[in-house]
Amino acid sequence: MASPSIEVALGERSYPIWITTSQADGSNPVDFASSFQDSVGSCSHAVLIHDAAIADTVANQVERVLAGMNIRVTNIQVPSGETSKSVAQLETIWNTMLGSGTDRQSVVVAVGGGVVGDLAGFAAASFTRGLRFVQVPTTLLSMVDSSVGGKTGINLPGGKNMVGSFWQPQMVWIDTQTLSTLPDRDFISGMAEVIKYGVIEDAEFFSWLKDNTGSLAERNPDALRHAITRSCESKARVVAEDERETSGRRAILNYGHTFAHAIEATAGYGVCLHGEAVAIGMQMAARLGIDMELCPPSLLEEQTAVLEAAKLPLVWKEADPDQMLPVMARDKKVAHGKLRFILPNRIGDVSLVGDVPAEKVIRAIEACRSMN
Ligand SMILES: NC(=O)c1ccc[n+]([C@@H]2O[C@H](COP(=O)([O-])OP(=O)(O)OC[C@H]3O[C@@H](n4cnc5c(N)ncnc54)[C@H](O)[C@@H]3O)[C@@H](O)[C@H]2O)c1
Ligand SMILES: [Zn+2]
Repeated sequence: MASPSIEVALGERSYPIWITTSQADGSNPVDFASSFQDSVGSCSHAVLIHDAAIADTVANQVERVLAGMNIRVTNIQVPSGETSKSVAQLETIWNTMLGSGTDRQSVVVAVGGGVVGDLAGFAAASFTRGLRFVQVPTTLLSMVDSSVGGKTGINLPGGKNMVGSFWQPQMVWIDTQTLSTLPDRDFISGMAEVIKYGVIEDAEFFSWLKDNTGSLAERNPDALRHAITRSCESKARVVAEDERETSGRRAILNYGHTFAHAIEATAGYGVCLHGEAVAIGMQMAARLGIDMELCPPSLLEEQTAVLEAAKLPLVWKEADPDQMLPVMARDKKVAHGKLRFILPNRIGDVSLVGDVPAEKVIRAIEACRSMN
């Protein structure tokens, strides 16, 4: 048995992340069945919850492997898209689980992007007060971000991710080959989070990214495995230090996100993809960092070069501080009415900065309406 690419260190809730690439003949250097057996232990029933977009490909392959292990599989297909992270969809899943004899010994296997991972993870966390759970992420964003760290949940009509739970999987299985069908726009969007890890806490990885965005864009398997491994290591380190967001350390993962959430909300949800908003938000945060004299202007130049090479958007013509500031004021990072931001000190190091003057925030937003 090979050793896992990464071990997420959370005491008794620790789990492995496997990062591999299946070959043209369908074989894989790391065997899914033995990894599953090793991490999950005995299992006679799996609830396979998958995104409709990968029903005939990844979900089908996973189902065949599970069936080959003499595991009875209940297959639940979820329509693609954010609207599936709903109470209605969760209720359908709970009822299907009940109707198929799901019990405390069953294992939930989530196959899809962040939407299915968050939804299936919460179904696992809540059904009979908690089932074992395996993540098979199939988008770049879910491989480097949502499948690591144990946040699961759904949206309410009035708020994103409002209901959920911290629920760690038994293992995460990442096959970079599954990215071959992911649309470019989703792939590029996921790159924003990859680049984010370089800026927030891994300067060496950032420098690697400077030379390798081209290979990543071509979805070169070696480059992908490296970038996904470094990203998951970064997230795992941060999560291990602050699993439930109590010390403040986990907040560094939100670099660029206070701006991004305001961009997403004012643009209208779904108009820009999350990673696209994060890229623009990172540019705003870097400008704010420079204005606050926390980091040199060269940081913005370096960040711009890498985001641009990844083909991410860097400006938002419609950026309107009058609309964005009220949204930011409602953000979770506001303490006692003061705006707080994760700002860069240098590549590989950021801090949570409180008491940021509104006029500087406005300047940073306005500066990102065009390239100069
Ligand atoms: N839990 C966390 O810590 C965390 C962190 C970040 C984001 N999230 C959540 O993740 C969600 C976004 O995740 P996402 O970007 O993966 O979106 P997603 O799950 O909606 O997937 C994006 C699109 O790709 C399609 N797709 C998925 N895999 C594919 C494949 N291999 N080939 C072709 N198409 C494929 C999907 O059908 C969908 O249309 C949001 O709901 C967000 O709140 C959670
Ligand atoms: Zn994000």
